[in-house]
Amino acid sequence: MEANEARERIESLRRDLERHNYNYYVLSAPEISDREFDRMMKELEALEKEWKEFDDPLSPTHRVGSDLTKGFEQVRHIYPMLSLGNTYSIGEVDDFVRRVREAVPGEEVTIVGEMKFDGTSISLIYEDGRLVRAVTRGDGAVGDVVTDNVKTIRSIPLRLAGSGWPRQFEIRGEIVLPWKAFDRLNEERAFNEEPLFANPRNAASGTLKLQNPAEVGRRGLDAYFYYLLSDELPAATHYENMMAARSWGFKVSDAMTRLHTLEEVDAYINHWDTARKELPVATDGLVFKVDSLRQELNLGYTAKSPRWAIAYKFQAERALTRLRFVSFETGRIGVITPVANLEPVLLSGTIVKRASLHNEDIIRTLDIHEHDMLYVEKGGEIIPKITGVNISGRQPGAEPVRFVTHCPACGTALVRVEGEASWICPNRYGCVPQITGRVEHFVGRRMMNIDGIGEETSEALFASGFVKDIADLYSLTREQLLTLEGFGERSAERILQGIEDSKAVPFERVLYALSIPFVGETVAKKLARSVRSMDRLMEMSVEELTAIDDIGPRIAESLKDYLAAPANLRIIERLCDAGVQMAVGSESDEGRTELLAGKSIVISGVFNLHSRDEYKEMIERNGGKNVGSISKKTDFVLAGANMGPSKLEKAQKLGIPIVDEEAFLAMLSTAAE
Ligand code: IVH
Repeated sequence: MEANEARERIESLRRDLERHNYNYYVLSAPEISDREFDRMMKELEALEKEWKEFDDPLSPTHRVGSDLTKGFEQVRHIYPMLSLGNTYSIGEVDDFVRRVREAVPGEEVTIVGEMKFDGTSISLIYEDGRLVRAVTRGDGAVGDVVTDNVKTIRSIPLRLAGSGWPRQFEIRGEIVLPWKAFDRLNEERAFNEEPLFANPRNAASGTLKLQNPAEVGRRGLDAYFYYLLSDELPAATHYENMMAARSWGFKVSDAMTRLHTLEEVDAYINHWDTARKELPVATDGLVFKVDSLRQELNLGYTAKSPRWAIAYKFQAERALTRLRFVSFETGRIGVITPVANLEPVLLSGTIVKRASLHNEDIIRTLDIHEHDMLYVEKGGEIIPKITGVNISGRQPGAEPVRFVTHCPACGTALVRVEGEASWICPNRYGCVPQITGRVEHFVGRRMMNIDGIGEETSEALFASGFVKDIADLYSLTREQLLTLEGFGERSAERILQGIEDSKAVPFERVLYALSIPFVGETVAKKLARSVRSMDRLMEMSVEELTAIDDIGPRIAESLKDYLAAPANLRIIERLCDAGVQMAVGSESDEGRTELLAGKSIVISGVFNLHSRDEYKEMIERNGGKNVGSISKKTDFVLAGANMGPSKLEKAQKLGIPIVDEEAFLAMLSTAAE
């Protein structure tokens, strides 16, 4: 491929990928399959690798982020980032509208109603249609430059679409972690016994400050925009400016509306008070802004906040109840979780008796004393949360709640994990809830899927001395099971069958089932697919492990620690002897060949016998590479009907063979024989 041609192809792929990103992440209306998107991305990556001179830091390929770790540079905001005056009362919102009207007597006043997104605010600077900088709010005057992290957020345009944007402008918005991504992240953290994020706001701001853009990209942040600043704004009203921003590719909420009367303002509040619960992201209120920028200028600012806007905050659902006691529970990986046991109280339709206090820092920050009156909240969050103490309910002489120093289950002195808020019981092999917790995890549906063993059974199996570790499951006998209370032939048989079937469970799930700290389901999959066997995994160094996509130093160290402990090695050996899969089985390799190894193949035209995707898969299954454009490195073109004339001409010019579908299929089948 010539330089000119490469540049054109690169440009066209970038444009297309940007448009598909926008369709997918902003409009939620993708036009092409994920596969096709991945294919285009791979082609672009390959071209950019070959043609380094055409690299662009804003290319869609750079959204994944590198693993580079560095502190954040700080800059002063061009316009300081202020906060908003807020209220919980509709009456005060009405007062705000009246004040605005009085400030501009005789003029029409239009108010823009919008959602108050509960995330972390961001200021983006664009020049000539390109993102140049992303800065956090910081202290309002100076913020952290987090451009690399922000670039991983797919709904943020790196280069603008449409036209009419000012040469230089700033746009402000809120970075949020949608509920789905928040739940997934917390599930993962719960699994790894890492402290949970209390709400999507903390998760979003924590994520934005990570020093690992690849991890930021993985977590699924999103962003909504609500304020445009520039010397050359496209319109004279806030609303029109936001609609212009939307046309340039920014995500602007559909809830943004112009309101003309107090009745409309009140109705907007009443509507969103409940309707917000259906939104995919957390909101903590509404914001009302004066639409006309001339009126905005007239109204100006107080020392802290604009006079032209007000925030109306939704009331979180909250209850007050007395703390009975704090219990401490030891989990599968040894993390001690403090739990507030409460006088039962009704909150958003359910009775709450217990709420996790997560870790020692939270108990300290809230300064919880014995038998305190606690506020329990259920925002959009499903899990009830202790948000504060009502000091006036404190009993005289009450002592502060102290974190235990020894494991409540086995009495071992706890150790604090460096850099983390959690305390851990180090007695991995002698502490009962850790052992039974690991057995329970091991048999879980997404792990070894052994039916019939729950919390009670794993405790009974341990108490009877039959199952002291996960490997013992494979020497369980019918007679042993029958000695357990409540066990009959049928239930014993079911467990034994489950254990037998588990020997066929693929290696990636075995790896997940072992309870290696930080090795969750996704990590286990990645690891298994890349290292392929336990033997190989054991030989690998931290450097080799971290070279694998998404495996960071913490996971690598954890794997090394796990595989250095003789007790674990014995368990793995016994599992292996029992017939458990310790390597990627032949099942996933079925039908794989190296027939097309090293071959670059272009697919073009319309096919009759198989779909394009199927042909692509056949090429890959046989070791070949499906590339998007013809170059002198192309080995052949798999051509259907109506192959594009420019492609045809190019193939002919470069002397590249053209193979039709029958010939291609024949090629695969004769070679297979
Ligand atoms: S306007 C000068 N609009 O709330 C006013 N802020 O308490 C600029 N926020 O720091 C802010 N949604 O992080 C505005 N639709 C919205 C918002 C919003 C969320 C956040 C933002 C700001 C804070 C103000």
